[in-house]
Amino acid sequence: MTKTLLVTGAGGVGKTTIAAGVGVTAARAGMRTLVVTVDPARRLATALGVENLGNEPQPHPSERNLWAAMLDATASWRAVAERHAEPDVAARLVDNEFFRAASEHFPASQSYAAADQAATFVQAKAWDLVVVDTPPSGGGIDFFTAPAQMADLVGGRLLRWITGGPLPGRRFLFNVAGRPVLRIADSILGSDLLERVAEFLLDLRTTYDGVAQRGREIEAVLGSSAVIVVTTSDPAPVREAIRFYRALPGLASVPAAVVFNRVLPSEWAEATAPPGTPAALAHNLEQWAAETLRQRDSRQEFSSRYGAHIAAVPWSAHPPTDLDGLADLMKSSSDIPWAELGFSAG
Ligand SMILES: Nc1ncnc2c1ncn2[C@@H]1O[C@H](COP(=O)(O)OP(=O)(O)OP(=O)(O)O)[C@@H](O)[C@H]1O
Ligand SMILES: [Mg+2]
Repeated sequence: MTKTLLVTGAGGVGKTTIAAGVGVTAARAGMRTLVVTVDPARRLATALGVENLGNEPQPHPSERNLWAAMLDATASWRAVAERHAEPDVAARLVDNEFFRAASEHFPASQSYAAADQAATFVQAKAWDLVVVDTPPSGGGIDFFTAPAQMADLVGGRLLRWITGGPLPGRRFLFNVAGRPVLRIADSILGSDLLERVAEFLLDLRTTYDGVAQRGREIEAVLGSSAVIVVTTSDPAPVREAIRFYRALPGLASVPAAVVFNRVLPSEWAEATAPPGTPAALAHNLEQWAAETLRQRDSRQEFSSRYGAHIAAVPWSAHPPTDLDGLADLMKSSSDIPWAELGFSAG
């Protein structure tokens, strides 16, 4: 059975790095592992072997058991259209400027596309573990709500309001002039443009049943996945992590762990300057000791207040840019719930 790990958390906390690190570790432990990544830094993409590649999983050129895919939201939307619409409708949708605009601007589109792709990979049953890095848009929680939002978008209120009924037919195009809101738009934008909007909405509507059904499948995959919430010890990402940690059980499963990233070495907490240390250096040591303690308190508070399993990934002076660096970072981490992912990382 394919295990799935979803890596979520606020922007910039290290989701992509940790997703890649977990992926390499699992691959080296003998699990056939796919890392699904979103917008990785260039050197990380190179390390994973996904630079310039689309959203099809690629076997790593030199790491047995490791595959990687990079999600491109536009390509994924195209895949959604192709999956759920008749071929001629799909071709028209992809060609429609409003479809392209929607795929770029609908806030949950990247999340939906990523969730849909990820679910496809899990359902392919070709891997032992699929690690999914979640897109930064909407702070990751979007990923879990996107299937429902998407179904609402294509079948929902906006469309009913514009078309005046639950299931608009082509006839609707001839009634355009009758709707005051559209008459105004028509005079401003020109009827050709309006027709393109109408065409887009009608075509999109034909995908509704497929999208709604698919949304339920995606939600089932998300619901049976392990989730880790990544954060740093800084107040803003911790607030986000708390929000995720409390919201996730209602949307997916109880997070397996909250992973604090960029954790300073615990021995720094006790560092004291020997007599004769220049004042600036002594002050520096004090500051880092205080920061190390603050980080520890932040982890302890998360654990005692929310009962979360806490894991720690150390701060590294050289952020990992290759597979060995990623594996080393994970080896020096503590309490990552490897067993829950189906292997031991000894
Ligand atoms: N433990 C660490 N020590 C030092 N640097 C790190 C560590 N983890 C991540 N970084 C660096 O922090 C930066 C952000 O990491 P990463 O891209 O993984 O975050 P992200 O959560 O995926 O960001 P985004 O939300 O923008 O996708 C990168 O430059 C990465 O190399
Ligand atoms: Mg990232």
